[in-house]
Amino acid sequence: MSYKLSRDVIDLGQYLMNVKTGELYEVEQDGRMLLSNLNTLEYLFNKSDIFNFMFNEGLLVDSSEKKDRNKFLLQLHLLNDCNLKCLHCYDWKDPVTSLTFEQNLVVLDNFVVFLKKMEMDGEISFTGGETLLYYRLIELIDYTKSQDVYIKPYVLTNGTIPPKTELLECLIRNDVGVQISIDGTEMVHDEIRGTGNYYKAVNGIKTYLAAGLKVSVHYVIMRRNIKAIPEFIREMERLEVKRINFSSLVPIGPGAQEEMLTPNENHDVIESIAFLQKEHSISLLSTRPLWSAVGSSGFCPVGYTTLTIDPSGKFLPCRRLPIILGDARYDTFFRVWFGSEFLQKMREREKYIKICGTCIKANVCGGCRAIAYALTNDAFAPDPSCWCV
Ligand SMILES: C[S@@+](CC[C@H](N)C(=O)[O-])C[C@H]1O[C@@H](n2cnc3c(N)ncnc32)[C@H](O)[C@@H]1O
Ligand code: SF4
Ligand code: SF4
Repeated sequence: MSYKLSRDVIDLGQYLMNVKTGELYEVEQDGRMLLSNLNTLEYLFNKSDIFNFMFNEGLLVDSSEKKDRNKFLLQLHLLNDCNLKCLHCYDWKDPVTSLTFEQNLVVLDNFVVFLKKMEMDGEISFTGGETLLYYRLIELIDYTKSQDVYIKPYVLTNGTIPPKTELLECLIRNDVGVQISIDGTEMVHDEIRGTGNYYKAVNGIKTYLAAGLKVSVHYVIMRRNIKAIPEFIREMERLEVKRINFSSLVPIGPGAQEEMLTPNENHDVIESIAFLQKEHSISLLSTRPLWSAVGSSGFCPVGYTTLTIDPSGKFLPCRRLPIILGDARYDTFFRVWFGSEFLQKMREREKYIKICGTCIKANVCGGCRAIAYALTNDAFAPDPSCWCV
């Protein structure tokens, strides 16, 4: 369990004030001790009168993860500015006007209301562009974790910008997961992401790990980096990374089309990584749909448990599926989630999604709707990267 001071409460030292009611509560020594040890000594106070009083008065709120609840995933693109120009990236086109910091706070409030009503926990991936270039990242993460609903934050980064101490402290205090993108061993990574960037990203991994953070590595599989995979796995294991998320390329970036694998190549690479998993303790399996063929949980959450807000503030079903569902400046999560005809059709997959919707694997795979859309302009088409169709 994890408790926090409610967002409606200001700590004035000797008093707590509920800013909604104007009520003042005097805090004596025991109360002060409870407040400063909420997460470490919670078990001692859990049943104490003072704890019960504060909890019943709404001064303390429960923001712990509920193991039996579903998670709703929000991918929040804070900007599309970036210090790199990776070959395959969908995100380095025209500059866009991103949401302001204040608009992002409204989005977060809106998300919290949605999670509460849906009785779900949340997960937010803060991403970009390059996330570390966002000027108020620390405040956004702190704000996210101050809510009285459980939200697990992740920061997605190319790892090349050394994090400042204040950012590391923020990531630690908020138990933030860090995902660093590396797309090959040094030579191939630098071909895709620019010279010198492998070295910088590896230093990034070392820095976050040394600070005690959980780091996973994201590897987009492309034609030019398939051969590097076995050596790459060994390199990440030497660094003591616990997980590599292998991911499929979606052909929407400027250099992405030529890097797509054929369905048979796709099959072979997935099988070979599943085989390598048997020899390595580092976790290698992806959550992309076709990985269900090797026992991974691949089911695509579009229409079920995810939404994305792109760098211009548009709601999308997924960042790789550029179908606009609304605008985060004006639309609530409820309006988008329950009002979108597109999402409703995604939920009725057997009726609308061709082949994948009635495939024996419809409920564990369903195909990647983003790849289908990128290659056919129809998000309901069969997944063209599947070797079964
Ligand atoms: C857009 S980046 C943003 C965060 C950060 N700049 C980074 O590189 O990790 C997030 C992830 O999307 C991946 N990505 C970009 N373009 C892609 C594409 N066309 N298909 C699949 N993944 C892509 C990147 O490789 C990266 O792992
Ligand atoms: S993948 Fe990340 S680092 Fe590379 S250009 Fe895109 S946003 Fe920038
Ligand atoms: S046909 Fe579609 S649902 Fe069936 S295995 Fe292939 S991609 Fe998955």
